[in-house]
Amino acid sequence: MKLELLPRARRTLADLLFEAGVEFPCGGESACGGCKVRVLEGDVPVTATMRDALSEDEIREGWRLACCALSTGRVVVEVEQWSLPVLTDEARVPIEPRAGQGAVIDLGTTTLVVQVVDLTSGEVLGVETALNPQARYGADLMSRLQYELRQPGELGRMIREALGGMLGGEPLREVLVAGNTVMHHLFCGLDVQALTHAPFVSPTLGGYRFADWELAWPGPAVFLPCLGGFVGSDVLCGIVATGMDARPRPRALFDIGTNGEVVVGSAQGIVYASTAAGPAFEGGRIGAGMRAGTGAIDSVHVRGGAIECHVIGGGAARGVCGSGLVDAAACGVELGLIGANGRLTNADKRLALAEGVALTQSDIRELQLAKGAMAAGLRMLAAGGVETLDLAGAFGNYIRQASARAIGLLPEDLPVEPAGNSALRGARMLLLAPSTRPARLKKIAEMSRHVELAADPDFQYLYAEMMALARYRLRG
Ligand code: FES
Repeated sequence: MKLELLPRARRTLADLLFEAGVEFPCGGESACGGCKVRVLEGDVPVTATMRDALSEDEIREGWRLACCALSTGRVVVEVEQWSLPVLTDEARVPIEPRAGQGAVIDLGTTTLVVQVVDLTSGEVLGVETALNPQARYGADLMSRLQYELRQPGELGRMIREALGGMLGGEPLREVLVAGNTVMHHLFCGLDVQALTHAPFVSPTLGGYRFADWELAWPGPAVFLPCLGGFVGSDVLCGIVATGMDARPRPRALFDIGTNGEVVVGSAQGIVYASTAAGPAFEGGRIGAGMRAGTGAIDSVHVRGGAIECHVIGGGAARGVCGSGLVDAAACGVELGLIGANGRLTNADKRLALAEGVALTQSDIRELQLAKGAMAAGLRMLAAGGVETLDLAGAFGNYIRQASARAIGLLPEDLPVEPAGNSALRGARMLLLAPSTRPARLKKIAEMSRHVELAADPDFQYLYAEMMALARYRLRG
């Protein structure tokens, strides 16, 4: 992700980078190399320390250490530690050939993926990924909504500009955008009031079409319609990607992100719900939580009766991301350090993972709330039985299923398949099938029913039960 910095009095470039959120894993000792930035514009002189830490090739390519960077003018840098392993998708999908190029966009709360596609062959010509620049105004959806109420229109302008820059300059015949309901409203410039209070139902959930000149993009765009309630077109595209709407037997789809969505259905009908899972699986509301970047514990194992962690980037641990959190809880349960009720059993009420990184009782509680909501949602919607569970999104791709089953996030008795970036693939399938797209979207909208979980007393009962950190079976 790019960052533009202008000189300020009594502030070095290192200060400005740090203030902008670049992390210095070794505390700026110039020892770890984890603060690497690549200079795209401007001049940042190479110091002796940088020569020790970076290879000749890296220096030639513009890489510098942020922690000892100095500059007297404007610089634009790319920050390596913000380059998340963002899930893209290039699977072959059915195509109705037409001339020109198009693009699809997965507008996520945390990450953005843009794919440019050859409309004649269906080939993916280019992929751009970035962090959502809105993230600096809040990690979760509610804080974005609060910011939008204070500064109407700003987040929408920001995201349209960022995505426009990622699309490149080639003329595009059509761009399809998929995202959750909040991203939909912010992008389309819609009033978000209704999304900030119960029952969280907005009257403007439809698809929106924009001419290229309205967005200053290289082609016209459509933001695909939300499915309903708090469930957006990212999940709608997940239904398309998994083919749920045409399958004879029911399957389930989990989309675990800053919000958690559960969908169950087949050609006979689809039910869906959003759960107040909260951002725990993305490291949110967890004391030592962080996104899956440099310094994050992303997996935890038990070896020789002790906890052993893997840290992204190999340096010192700075926190724990979602997949590490699920693993850590499973290991804690296995070692008897966490009871099935979520209680930490040791005297200091902490689960130490690495030097300076531990989970507290309230972290475990957040995890229980999040996983309990997803599991209870699945049990409610899948009461009639399902044959497979598709796991959408990055988290679904990276969690260890064994750990997720051990703490009762995933059921014991259901085959689970990572669905990859199903939002992106579903959007590409819709882009490449222009003649059948309107009918398919209409059919999915008609056959789908929103279930308001919170209003159902059975859900409250199940939710309490599913907060246990214990294995469970969907069928009895
Ligand atoms: S913070 Fe470790 S090298 Fe810069």
